[in-house]
Amino acid sequence: METKILTTNIDDLTIAADILKKGGNVIFPTETVYGIGADARNPLAVKNIFTAKGRPADNPLIVHISSLDMMDELVEEIPEKAKALADKFWPGPLTIILKKSKNVPYETTAGLDTVAIRMPENETARKLIELSSVPVAAPSANLSGKPSPTTAQHCIDDMYGRVDGIIKGEDCEFGVESTVIDLSGNIPVLYRPGAVTVEQLTEVLGEVEVKISVKEGEAPKSPGLKYKHYSPDARVVILSGSVDEVLEFIKRESEKYKIGMLVFDEFPEFKGVITISLGSRKRPADAMHRLFSALREMDKQAVEVVYAPEIPDTDEWSAVKNRLYRAAGNEVFDLSKTKRVLFVCTGNTCRSPMAEGIFNKLCLDKGVNARATSAGIFADGGEASYNAVKVMKELSVDIEGRRSRMISAEDIDNADVILTMTVSHKDMLINFLGNNQKIFTLAEYTDNTGDVPDPFGGDEETYRNCRDTIYDMVEKAVDKL
Ligand code: TXA
Ligand code: MG
Repeated sequence: METKILTTNIDDLTIAADILKKGGNVIFPTETVYGIGADARNPLAVKNIFTAKGRPADNPLIVHISSLDMMDELVEEIPEKAKALADKFWPGPLTIILKKSKNVPYETTAGLDTVAIRMPENETARKLIELSSVPVAAPSANLSGKPSPTTAQHCIDDMYGRVDGIIKGEDCEFGVESTVIDLSGNIPVLYRPGAVTVEQLTEVLGEVEVKISVKEGEAPKSPGLKYKHYSPDARVVILSGSVDEVLEFIKRESEKYKIGMLVFDEFPEFKGVITISLGSRKRPADAMHRLFSALREMDKQAVEVVYAPEIPDTDEWSAVKNRLYRAAGNEVFDLSKTKRVLFVCTGNTCRSPMAEGIFNKLCLDKGVNARATSAGIFADGGEASYNAVKVMKELSVDIEGRRSRMISAEDIDNADVILTMTVSHKDMLINFLGNNQKIFTLAEYTDNTGDVPDPFGGDEETYRNCRDTIYDMVEKAVDKL
């Protein structure tokens, strides 16, 4: 499909308006995020938006208007509460759900008898709607599931060749989608937090019920709530813990993965990782404005995991928190609860470094909040053995250049569980420490028996066999944690 790239000048907006009138679709800027618009009354035009985005058909669209008059034909009636909200927050980042009229097809509302309506403030958006005289159904202009676009370039990246036109406007002022409130029932219900806060809504409405998370298996009133959303290709994980815990964790992880960190300006410097600031910790508007861009930038930099800070549980932060935690699939790593495992062998050049590497990889893959280190009983600071490095590379785990370490009192203190390769390692530690509830052989801990034999000096195949033995047991250990 040929996509016209348009500017915000009046001639181009007239072209864009014509596309809408004829049942085509056009991407346009708004003050929240960019939208992909089509005539809300035209079922075929609306269907094409779903196709362009790859959006599930049961997720309804917001209809954009440029004047209150346009609302009359879209809804059954305009209740007093809706008038009061419109009066206070329109044009602006607020979407109001009301009972729909028969002029709005079920394609637009995904089968619901209600319709979501918003009057955007952005000049270009308003001009486009005015020129077309069309109520414009417009979801965010991203591929379904991706972070919403807040710049024209984001739209081009996702949608070029999939839509009839893209208007290249300015970067979005707010950067997160509108607040969505349902006034179709007796009590106003908030479905999506945005720049208009619950406090502001409550001032006008008196009471607001907040329903922004959906429990497993519960049919959501607002279908958009149930989909994994806003996700970059990289995995996103929220980190909870003290500054020191986070610094230490990031240092360790960055040796193994290409990591991105979302930070606040007030954070200390993180070395060796790609950091993008969400602005000041004191200004939610900064983070709103930057979040989606930052997530997209992380993908451009091809990071494997994006770690993000915890977001306060307050009304003014709720839009940022909602988007970020959904991008993370609600995955929070509480570093104060991280289980620490110490693997012990003799020289710390073969078995225990392999166990450590396998353990940490599996924890990351499975989302288990545990981390391993390793040490030896007679370690001399030498490098990991050649064949160990080689067979670990086959699992995409790099232990090259890793120096062996002698076990220390601190290692033992810090560990929640100590797993040794043989019974004699375990006995040695127990002789030294006295009986200790946290020391096991790896086999014993995973309901196996015997020792993991030392491959030292063996050929590649010996190491590979040893690695596979360790892998099976370590996987059981990870699952147990
Ligand atoms: O800021 C915004 O609202 C942007 C710009 C383009 O205006 N649009 C936007 O649209 O974010 P979209 O489609 O990405 O999100 C619309 C949300 C979805 O979560 C959808 O489920 C909900 O609004 N929604 C729409 N109509 C609804 C209805 N009748 N009942 C309940 N929820 C509805
Ligand atoms: Mg969206």
